[in-house]
Amino acid sequence: MKHGLSPASASLLFLFLCFSSCVFAFIPHRTLLLDNNNLFLNEDGRYLSSKEIWFNQTLDHFSPYDHRQFQQRYYEFLDYFRIPDGPVFLVIGGEGPNNGIVNDYIGNSLNAKLNRTGVENPWFFFGGSYSGALSAWFRLKFPHLTCGSLASSAVVLAIQDYVEFDQQIGESAGPECKAALQETTQLIETKLAANGPTLRATFNADDLIVDGDFLYYLADAAVIAFQYGNPDKLCKPMVDAKKAGGDLVEAYAKYVKEYYAGTFGVNTQIYDQEYLKKTEINEDSSSRLWWFQVCTEVAYFQVAPANDSIRSSKIDTKYHLDLCKNVFGDGVFPDVDATNLYYGGTNIAGSKIIFTNGSQDPWRHASKQTSSTDCSEKNCSSPDAVHKVRQKVQEDMDLWLSECIDTGRSFI
Ligand SMILES: *[C@@H]1O[C@H](CO)[C@@H](O)[C@H](O)[C@H]1NC(C)=O
Ligand SMILES: *[C@@H]1O[C@H](CO)[C@@H](O)[C@H](O)[C@H]1NC(C)=O
Ligand SMILES: *[C@@H]1O[C@H](CO)[C@@H](O)[C@H](O)[C@H]1NC(C)=O
Ligand SMILES: *[C@@H]1O[C@H](CO)[C@@H](O)[C@H](O)[C@H]1NC(C)=O
Ligand SMILES: *[C@@H]1O[C@H](CO)[C@@H](O)[C@H](O)[C@H]1NC(C)=O
Repeated sequence: MKHGLSPASASLLFLFLCFSSCVFAFIPHRTLLLDNNNLFLNEDGRYLSSKEIWFNQTLDHFSPYDHRQFQQRYYEFLDYFRIPDGPVFLVIGGEGPNNGIVNDYIGNSLNAKLNRTGVENPWFFFGGSYSGALSAWFRLKFPHLTCGSLASSAVVLAIQDYVEFDQQIGESAGPECKAALQETTQLIETKLAANGPTLRATFNADDLIVDGDFLYYLADAAVIAFQYGNPDKLCKPMVDAKKAGGDLVEAYAKYVKEYYAGTFGVNTQIYDQEYLKKTEINEDSSSRLWWFQVCTEVAYFQVAPANDSIRSSKIDTKYHLDLCKNVFGDGVFPDVDATNLYYGGTNIAGSKIIFTNGSQDPWRHASKQTSSTDCSEKNCSSPDAVHKVRQKVQEDMDLWLSECIDTGRSFI
């Protein structure tokens, strides 16, 4: 959205509201995320702005009794802002607890800063993955406060047993890589039963003494290659090892250590349920916060499908429910029906929401997507198709912002 700005969006205020997970956590737990860090880099590889700004946020917007507040952090980028009434782009940060994005507060702080009163700016919301769903839900619930939303890979459908996740990984991997990964999982299960400590040491994951935690770590490590468009990083060494009659577990351990732990910088501790119980704030705190969303509202339990799965069948519904109970206490489990009833799932009744989905994204099955004929027949990943989607996004945004500006309000 930063590139090729169109007339209506050329004058913008880029506001980046974000929760604690945004700055610290590169990879939240049980991966559901868009890498926000990469979206907002300028040519020098720095952030548009990394200056933290804080405001007093209401802790619970739905309680008439609880007036407690907490300090919420956000960032703003004003270089292209048309004072005083230009559009405001609000980019919602990644996974973390969210009690609603409250425009009033941000609006007030801007008013103070720019010395203006009574000016209404058109707002447009952005988000990807979980925050994609948040951007769509915000538009659904507060259409009078937004001109529209771009909900990228937005997981608007809460799913209890999300088997499509693993199935998509298999599809994205292709038969050869999938077979190598499945064989690897079997070997790992055998070795884990025979000599857990030695196997865990091979993966530098000695601390993951609960088998489910360890196996989840290994499953996520594979996911990351497909979710972020680098399948070769995983598939090439695995298929090569298979063809050469090499040690698949060794090859996989090398990948996990070098790529998932190394390049992505994931700490094994975020898979450790004992660690998830800790409430102190530190760089990995977002894992616990994300799990709370999972365990109370959205689930997306990435369970192994009944047959043909890549991940270990030990990663099942019981594993997830036990984790919720162990980490957060008795009676904490997600009611996905209630969530979908409230927001509408993929039948979300909001207008002016752009949903974009990636064909290789394991999260797309929890998103709003219909395979358009345009895409299934032609080559969806071709730059031309991507270019067309971007163009369409821009056109929609231009139109909706101009409609907002014309009416002077953010209504419908
Ligand atoms: C937030 O609240 C505290 C305590 O009431 C107050 O001292 C502070 O000025 C407030 N900050 C802002 C930005 O309003
Ligand atoms: C806003 O008003 C305050 C007080 O009147 C003044 O000190 C400040 O310089 C003004 N800021 C801008 C950006 O004009
Ligand atoms: C897995 O099970 C489903 C449903 O029972 C079936 O349709 C599918 O063909 C099976 N796949 C394999 C690879 O066995
Ligand atoms: C994603 O899903 C939406 C909603 O069905 C659809 O309109 C859109 O074309 C899809 N996008 C891509 C890139 O497939
Ligand atoms: C899709 O397009 C890309 C880029 O043009 C090309 O590399 C790839 O081979 C194409 N895939 C298919 C299935 O046509």
